[in-house]
Amino acid sequence: MTRQGMPSVCEKADLLIINGLVVTSQASFEAAIAITDGKIVAFGDVSTLPQAKEILDVAGLAILPGAIDVHVHFRDPGYTHKEDWESGTAAAAFGGVTTVFDMPNTIPTVATPDVLAQKHEIAASKAHVDYGLYAVLGEESIDHIDGLIETGIIGFKCYMGNTFGRIPSPSTGAMLELFERIAPTGMRISLHAETNSIMERRETRLRAAGKNAPLDHLASRPAVVAIEAVERAATLAEWTGARIHILHISSKDELRPLAEAKARGVEVTGETCPHYLMLSTDDYEHSRGRIRVNPPVREPDNQEPIWAALDSGVIDMIATDHAPHTAEEKDRPVIWDVDCGFPGVETQMPLMLTAVAEGRITLNHYVRLSSEAPAKAFGLYPRKGALLPGSDADLAIVDLKSRWEIDDNALHSRSKASPWHGREVRGRVIHTIVRGRFVLREGSLQPATRGTGRSVHDIQQMPPPRPRNADKTLAAVTRNAGT
Ligand code: DOR
Ligand code: ZN
Repeated sequence: MTRQGMPSVCEKADLLIINGLVVTSQASFEAAIAITDGKIVAFGDVSTLPQAKEILDVAGLAILPGAIDVHVHFRDPGYTHKEDWESGTAAAAFGGVTTVFDMPNTIPTVATPDVLAQKHEIAASKAHVDYGLYAVLGEESIDHIDGLIETGIIGFKCYMGNTFGRIPSPSTGAMLELFERIAPTGMRISLHAETNSIMERRETRLRAAGKNAPLDHLASRPAVVAIEAVERAATLAEWTGARIHILHISSKDELRPLAEAKARGVEVTGETCPHYLMLSTDDYEHSRGRIRVNPPVREPDNQEPIWAALDSGVIDMIATDHAPHTAEEKDRPVIWDVDCGFPGVETQMPLMLTAVAEGRITLNHYVRLSSEAPAKAFGLYPRKGALLPGSDADLAIVDLKSRWEIDDNALHSRSKASPWHGREVRGRVIHTIVRGRFVLREGSLQPATRGTGRSVHDIQQMPPPRPRNADKTLAAVTRNAGT
């Protein structure tokens, strides 16, 4: 070991990966990679690298940093018939995803340190890949903010609109107070940005009118719900200095308030998901309830502007909103009875690599969107999200040429009901490596890796917080004089 604790390249490495095409956000080049103690220690021509205990020849394959999916629902505890930490992280490994951030709408909702600690225990005992846990930010968690951060979270999740789990949405007044409280901590707040009062009113009217077809779900949540929510969240973030992240951007219309907020210097990032890029109202008839998701898949003219926003940087990253439900829960005849969401953690990479093969985005930009940008937004870069000496050896090794068809029944998620069934894709994950350890090898899950995934909250390093209007917060104006 050198003084910095990095193994010297002269010592024997644990693993040498040879003959692959290394793909970073900046460049693609042929190089061997040496890995020791779970970290990348060197790149280069194989003749310049140390001997290794093990050599993996990946001729013909591409080596990408593992994807970081900042938006999954692994359902454990509470809904383990839909998914659990074992099946969810296995699906992630099959999808080249080496870190996931899990949402708090499990049972009980992750709103207190005790519940969070219980979820940490479950995840640590079952996970095949690394993970971060979200805590809910709402009226139920306002008195637990410090305890939640101490117990270990990757960020807060605020539900501006109701969705699966029916977590109550805070009023705008409560949101402002919550943002005031989070701003000095520097943690990022991820937002389900759909305005509840608009949706509830419309759904009630639609139901009363006897509407219950798949497209009526879209009618209950037109893009104005997202425009209004993004605009309002950006205003509160700008006032307080809180950092926010807009989850699952579904419409061209919410790009304007997002771009404007960025231009004003609001610390806001955004994600979209493959279903908003590749599915549209044209898919409702054959997918029926399987396509029901919040926010809804929208009209085809949203797709090109969302792709363009990925090119321009208005949208920062790709996530999946992996939201597994059983086939029975997805195939109910009345759309209002269908559970919202579908699995995605396993299909994101092949779907996006298909877009790469079609020339829609470059492979290097895909690496930025799927790995580098999420790591940067949540303070994990360059330990995660990078192929650099010193980074965790989190790798997705893929065959870019492989063509195959998505089959719901072959998904490793417990959920076998998605709108992707039958879709042709290009790009298959062959090996997934997490901190130097094979989780997927030659396309086979390595069962001994169950319980080896670790929470990433303790390596998170967010930039210093920049709270604003601190003298006008509720805490400041209600403080007693002289205390
Ligand atoms: O469709 C959705 N399903 N959207 C969400 O925001 C939540 C998710 C779930 O948990 O099922
Ligand atoms: Zn979600």
